[in-house]
Amino acid sequence: MSKRPTLPARVNTRLRNEIGRLLFALAIGLAKTSSLSFSQMRLLARIPSSYDAFSRWQLGRTKRVEPAMAVEGVRNVVLQAEADRFALGTEAPNFLDGRVRQLRPSAILEFGGGVSTVVLAACMSDIHGSDSPRVFSVDESEGYLHETRRMLDDAGLAGCARLAHREVREQTFWGRRTPCYDLDDAFLRAFLETVPELLLVDGPSGGGMVRLGTLALALGHVGLPCTFFLDDALREDEINVASLWQEVPEVELRTVHLVGHGLLEGRIVG
Ligand SMILES: C[S@@+](CC[C@H](N)C(=O)[O-])C[C@H]1O[C@@H](n2cnc3c(N)ncnc32)[C@H](O)[C@@H]1O
Repeated sequence: MSKRPTLPARVNTRLRNEIGRLLFALAIGLAKTSSLSFSQMRLLARIPSSYDAFSRWQLGRTKRVEPAMAVEGVRNVVLQAEADRFALGTEAPNFLDGRVRQLRPSAILEFGGGVSTVVLAACMSDIHGSDSPRVFSVDESEGYLHETRRMLDDAGLAGCARLAHREVREQTFWGRRTPCYDLDDAFLRAFLETVPELLLVDGPSGGGMVRLGTLALALGHVGLPCTFFLDDALREDEINVASLWQEVPEVELRTVHLVGHGLLEGRIVG
């Protein structure tokens, strides 16, 4: 049987969490913004008793909004997956839709597909037309790829995205051993019809450092500068992944957008 923490330990935990929550609210309130720099966020995340507290608080303040996409079929896909904890919810798809329309990338590479694939495909088809795929999405689950294909079909966007199944296997990235998608240069050259200028990292699933290798695998296959987004950016694992990315000379971390599960925005610059 696990021992109950002592009273001083419980008071300490409570105090840290209260102070952490207050500072989180203050940082957002003072900046009058819904984003923080990665360094601010990492510093604040150290205050509560658990590194994951920020992620939980963010989930608690996530707003349920109406999907803003013009196409009804796309809005329906977002709404149908609203309760799925793996999907992006409603706030983040709206945010990504807006940001992609500002950035106007020529193509998008996505790690971990689903509702996001449909939202991105609709956006890209609006910007560039639907003659060729502009969203290239990699997933480790055959079953989930099938589901993504169905959602694309339902929204009339089957021709706007190309999907690939890749297993996850142990590899070394920047000196760290961790699982990630089994993608080599030859595969990516054949898979990508054009050069992506935007990356969405929402997979693989599994926790730990599994998302670390995504940027390493994409380096050399993207147009520069290439904006990237990392979902679940307030979770302990993703904070650790992003902290390692911060040390990579080709990577710049910019902002953590406090929408949905938290989206880190950065750029690959070299
Ligand atoms: C965070 S999810 C990706 C979500 C995706 N970007 C979206 O917007 O729907 C990461 C991975 O978990 C798997 N996955 C997604 N939904 C799932 C579900 N409902 N149950 C089990 N696995 C799921 C898929 O393999 C997916 O690539």
